[in-house]
Amino acid sequence: MQDIKKTEYTSTAKWLHWGMAMVWMISWAMGILATHWRDELNPQHGLTFLHKALASTLLFAIVIRIAWRLMHQPPALPQSMSALMKRGAMIGHALLYAIALIALPLSGWYWSSVADKPILVAGLFTLPSLVNPDPDLYDLAKYTHTWTSWFCGALVGGHILIALKHQFIDKDNILAAMLPKTKTQR
Ligand code: HEM
Ligand code: HEM
Repeated sequence: MQDIKKTEYTSTAKWLHWGMAMVWMISWAMGILATHWRDELNPQHGLTFLHKALASTLLFAIVIRIAWRLMHQPPALPQSMSALMKRGAMIGHALLYAIALIALPLSGWYWSSVADKPILVAGLFTLPSLVNPDPDLYDLAKYTHTWTSWFCGALVGGHILIALKHQFIDKDNILAAMLPKTKTQR
């Protein structure tokens, strides 16, 4: 029997990856639209509310994702990749976890806490404040979240381009390992 653990991610890992990827990309777009098209699209701060309600769910999902990741090895990278490229992939994934999925939502939480503004997680319950409100820290918190979000936009953009390069230029198994199983694989 084929050992599927070695050639692809577990279905839970796939659900977590694609679910969080969707939430992440929609949150990112909402943040940009809310801020840069404020008069046209966000006059009553409805988009800001949705941005915070959706993005804050990542703070909970990441705990489950990391626990699952620690208990389940990812599939091995293809032999065709050099040791340097394998190391690059490892560092890239570590940055996605540490900055895009942990530091960025934390910086948003920090900003809203400093500004004394509530975060309604998925519209269901309010997150407690991370720190006491402090108008003196408002600008620092705002710029930290804004610049981290732009850095992460580039990081995720690079991640997607590399995944497409593996699929269409290198033609290796990397994207397939993260896609749902096809009938022939089962
Ligand atoms: C607890 C989580 C988060 C909170 C509370 C939060 C809060 C905020 C707030 C208050 C704004 C300003 C919106 C406005 O001025 O109307 C903002 C902007 C933004 N956020 Fe978040 N955010 C969170 C997570 C995230 C995540 C996970 C991402 C990326 C997926 C993200 C990406 C952005 C972007 C791109 C902007 C616009 C930056 C700019 O001004 O160019 N945020 N966020
Ligand atoms: C269209 C969008 C995306 C595509 C096509 C994609 C594709 C992939 C692929 C093929 C892998 C497996 C790489 C390997 O085995 O070496 C992967 C892993 C990963 N992706 Fe994405 N991804 C996308 C969006 C995102 C987003 C938005 C995030 C987070 C902000 C993200 C975070 C990660 C992380 C952290 C891993 C490493 C998983 C692990 O080994 O634990 N991805 N992605």
